[in-house]
Amino acid sequence: MDIIGMGYLGFESSNLEAWRTYGPEVMGFQIGSSPEADRDSLYFRLDDRRHRLAFHPGKVDRLAYVGWEARGKLEFRAATQKFRDAGVQVTVGDAALCDIRGVKELIRFRDPVGNQHELFYGQKWMPRSFMPGRPHGGFVADARGMGHAVIITPEFPPELESFFTELMGFHYYGAGAGKGKTAFYRAKLNNETSHDIAFGHGPNKAGIQHVGLFVKSLRDVGETYDIVKKRQLPIMMTLGAHAQDPHVSFYHFSPGGFAFEVITELEPWHNDGFELNPEKLSTWGHELVGPILGASVRTPEEVLDEEGLAILERLRQKA
Ligand SMILES: [Fe+2]
Repeated sequence: MDIIGMGYLGFESSNLEAWRTYGPEVMGFQIGSSPEADRDSLYFRLDDRRHRLAFHPGKVDRLAYVGWEARGKLEFRAATQKFRDAGVQVTVGDAALCDIRGVKELIRFRDPVGNQHELFYGQKWMPRSFMPGRPHGGFVADARGMGHAVIITPEFPPELESFFTELMGFHYYGAGAGKGKTAFYRAKLNNETSHDIAFGHGPNKAGIQHVGLFVKSLRDVGETYDIVKKRQLPIMMTLGAHAQDPHVSFYHFSPGGFAFEVITELEPWHNDGFELNPEKLSTWGHELVGPILGASVRTPEEVLDEEGLAILERLRQKA
């Protein structure tokens, strides 16, 4: 499937007011205008797209959907057919939902461990329209995707890997330096970052662990770090550079309980040409000063919706 990368992320939030100040003041997001049919949700812009992050009112703080971007109409139609041929249950987004997401067309589907995904193309966009919520040099998103997400999954069956690699055409990037079962994947058309999505196996745990967002300069990593420290927001990992990516980043916890990794590239990522097996997570820094799993990672019953839990249950019965 000709997928560029992650186009948008949707969350449910029990505390939209916290996001309304945190988003622009800490992260530099622009508050977008909420669509007519979804006035109660909070939308953030990171670049010239209509939005990249959506927070919908909910009882639980959780990831609601991951929006993958097909290059265009033809690639979207081909991908939809491929899902159907593979027997994946696909729901076609109606005009009202497409309007809310600001896209031409979308489909909704679940991965083998119950996470909700969407595939879309043609999200609304206006050049030079992004106005950061505070002085900020901007995010790197545009045509390469908005960043990456790491999801903790209570089951890690082979079907999960084949769903992303064989069906969705993602590249397998490796297992990283973490202990336990982890896997990193990047979309077929992504040649600029090492991963778009990663899964970590956490028995009886589910939820989003962190979201990685790229900023255009080291200054924006440093200034965000200062703001986080000044506001005494909980930090997960201090400034550092990963062994597997030529990046500088730090991790702190958002009002949603998951961490944001604010990242800048020291040099462009290039395909390594072999599967990396790093001796350790980072070459310097990244001192773990908080929990590795925030409040966003809980039991599946607490985090997943009914359909997600039903998928997990069927998977367990099959095993
Ligand atoms: Fe990351």
